[in-house]
Amino acid sequence: MSEATSRQRILSGMQPTDGSLHLGNYIGALRQWVALQDDFEALYFVADLHSVTVKHDPAVLAERTRRTAAQYLAAGVDPAKSILFVQSHVPEHAQLGWLMQCVTGFGEASRMTQFKDKSTKHGSDGTTVGLFSYPSLQAGDICLYDASLVPVGEDQRQHLELTRNLAERMNSRFGAGTVVVPDAHIVKGGAKIMDLTNPTAKMSKSSSGGKGVVWLMEDAKRAVKAIKGAVTDADETFGVRYDVENKPGISNLLVIFSAITGREIDDIAAEYDGRGYGYLKVDLAEAVAEFIRPFQERAEIYLADPAELDRVLVDGAARAREIAAPVLARVYDRFGLLRPASAGGAR
Ligand code: TYM
Repeated sequence: MSEATSRQRILSGMQPTDGSLHLGNYIGALRQWVALQDDFEALYFVADLHSVTVKHDPAVLAERTRRTAAQYLAAGVDPAKSILFVQSHVPEHAQLGWLMQCVTGFGEASRMTQFKDKSTKHGSDGTTVGLFSYPSLQAGDICLYDASLVPVGEDQRQHLELTRNLAERMNSRFGAGTVVVPDAHIVKGGAKIMDLTNPTAKMSKSSSGGKGVVWLMEDAKRAVKAIKGAVTDADETFGVRYDVENKPGISNLLVIFSAITGREIDDIAAEYDGRGYGYLKVDLAEAVAEFIRPFQERAEIYLADPAELDRVLVDGAARAREIAAPVLARVYDRFGLLRPASAGGAR
């Protein structure tokens, strides 16, 4: 076995829905991706097929796909260590996604909370069948590479549980070893970064109309403003401690502070406890600005050379397909699908 294949395989992806990732994406997932690529055989992709399950603008999708990949690179995903690619460049995703749909129950897909939230928002005419079967496509993404670990944020837990159920179902119907049953890798601190203006809701584009979101590719001045405007908790003693229930706003700022600077939460809390919350916010705003400025500079270097970025993605897709094609062939065989003559004919 080569060194590369003897390591456990991990995989994860993000949707290119916006022109920028946000701090939640970075702290909850991207940061872990970078840390894990040294010890695992890692595959990271831009989930463009997932992003078209809701109405999208075709004129900007390609650009956002590149921007998402550039941000992976800016964060430290290294194509020499990880396989970096675009989901739609590997057609096996759609193929295994279809088989996954065919083992997904209507009821279990209906219970996905992200589907329930999004379909409520878009109404029945605006809700596509693709949005409904989105988690099955995600299960296909993971099983296509025999991935055993999936680094994601807390909001993906339910999709990962569904993936495990589908994988186990495949193995019991079509034989042990049809697919690998993966585990979610969800870190303790930072798996759910909250909106700065509404610290009981997850940071996302839809929370508080985007006001409480720190975008990695936006002007650092805006990030500073968002952090200085963060909702804190009513407490005349200006107590600073990690206490999600009673101090959701402060706890969220502490988690962000710790993730960005690498300092321990208790350390930071001790430094600011009893002082005005403004001191904590000003210093955190500065730390975040110091983080995003060079991040943007690195991303812009990749974006300034789209031909080189595309070369990295083409190379990544070729390497991904080398892994995906035999896995898909194995699952097709187990399903009893007739092999094409060019692949050795009937079994
Ligand atoms: P997406 O694009 O919504 O989010 C990308 C990653 O960011 C994490 N995340 C957060 N983490 C902490 N705090 C937050 N506020 C926050 N918001 C988002 C998400 O948990 C995720 O890890 N369905 C996936 C993409 C996908 C995928 C896959 C992931 C498609 N196929 C296969 C893993 C494996 C999604 O929409 O993530």
